[in-house]
Amino acid sequence: MHAQSVSNALPEETLDPENWSEALALSHQIVNDAVAYLRDVRDRPVWQEMPADVRSRFSAPLPRAPEPFGNIYQMITETVMRYPMGNIHPRFWSWYMGSSNFTGALGEFLAAIQGSNLGGGDHAAALMDQQVVNWCKEMIGFPASASGTLVSGGSMANLIGLTVARNEKSDIDVREFGLAAIEKPLRFYGSDQLHGCHRKAVEALGLGNCALRRVPSDAGLRIDICALRAAIAEDRARGFQPACVIASAGTVNTGAIDDLAALRALATEEGLWLHVDGCIGALLAIAPENAYRVVGIEKADSVALDPHKWLHAPFEAGCALVRDAAAHRNAFAVAPEYLETSDRGLASGPWLHEYGLQTSRGYRALKIWMSLKEHGIEKFGRLIDQNIAQARYLTDLIKAEPLLELVAPTNINIVCFRFRPADADRTALKSINSQIMMRLQEEGTAAISDTTVRGEHCLRAAINNHRTRRSDLELLVQETIRLGDAIVTENEASRIPAQKRLRP
Ligand SMILES: Cc1ncc(COP(=O)(O)O)c(C=O)c1O
Repeated sequence: MHAQSVSNALPEETLDPENWSEALALSHQIVNDAVAYLRDVRDRPVWQEMPADVRSRFSAPLPRAPEPFGNIYQMITETVMRYPMGNIHPRFWSWYMGSSNFTGALGEFLAAIQGSNLGGGDHAAALMDQQVVNWCKEMIGFPASASGTLVSGGSMANLIGLTVARNEKSDIDVREFGLAAIEKPLRFYGSDQLHGCHRKAVEALGLGNCALRRVPSDAGLRIDICALRAAIAEDRARGFQPACVIASAGTVNTGAIDDLAALRALATEEGLWLHVDGCIGALLAIAPENAYRVVGIEKADSVALDPHKWLHAPFEAGCALVRDAAAHRNAFAVAPEYLETSDRGLASGPWLHEYGLQTSRGYRALKIWMSLKEHGIEKFGRLIDQNIAQARYLTDLIKAEPLLELVAPTNINIVCFRFRPADADRTALKSINSQIMMRLQEEGTAAISDTTVRGEHCLRAAINNHRTRRSDLELLVQETIRLGDAIVTENEASRIPAQKRLRP
């Protein structure tokens, strides 16, 4: 009876390839193409607009029937690979990103093949995850007793640090009773240059946007320490509970680094948590010529850093470090029966999910581990110095051009500048420079973004790119001027009445 029911059963299925030799041949093809793709990245446009027929392919219906993998790969080469964001290109300097690396990409592949879930357990990937966290601590001079966790990126790393800060600085058990039970509402402080992810964090933490006071920055765009001191005193007098200072070690607008030593002293004096958003600058600590800029970061209570920026790990990879390991674990640990630790076997390792919000966690460590092992941190440190030297070079090129103007001092690797023809007012300048930015992108020459510093709109090149060469920056300057001149000429032509333009 039993044997009969087995023989009548439907054939069992799997997602594994039906033909491993074919799968191997196609995989070789993919690796060949991937190597050529990266090798020749400089020869392609940084970015290009997708034609309508390519866009429409992403609204195809839910696939119900199987399709040969060869066809699927063909579609990927024609769409995704041809129309990337462009951040692996040597002339991508928009927003603030890393430019990935080949070994890290192989690490992503192997991590997926190996397939471990980094929620915890006793296995090699879990040990590597903890090793990479330990390396991050060592890179910024954090004590070995501190704890940390790999997360998706800087925003999540900041959220982890700020959660621990909130819990530690509340006079009640926030996890159990919630914010409503707090007698004095908490206040967090950062400069008016703070990254937007901190707003998301305080909102998600239930503190509300108003609980994050944006303290004015000084002439160097660093938090004004006197204004911060005054804000803390004012809040205490009004019945709030000052809880946490968020220092920026590299602001997203200009790369300004707050005075970490002064903030440490003030936070200690006032009994506040010091969290450092080091997504841009924490890793300056490994750059021989620029490490001095972040001295003091090792004294913070928590730090967020971003291996997918200056370690160029393929997205995503962030890291939160917390000096007090017990406080870190106390903020997140839960031990339901199905996640209990055992003395032996697979569940005998530490539960890594107890240091953050995720339960299942991807194997992020491998891509970071492999490229750190391959190159060593000295090379990564030199590459950081190289980007900063390149930003100085671009700054000098800009200063030498009468039609270009530097809009903020260059601190590290972010250059804020604009095209400035004679007689253009603020509105005209913004319009001309926005056009320049768009045309540079649309022509595929370079990707830069824009921002406003002290009320002045400007173009912004953030050089966090191990493929950039000085000649790329020379091209950026030439093209900015060429496009700026062309836009001014077009604007003038459009102002001349049509009849006049036709006259011989
Ligand atoms: C200063 C700063 N903090 C936080 C973040 C957010 O990091 P992520 O994009 O990795 O979440 C960024 C991103 O550029 C940043 O520049």
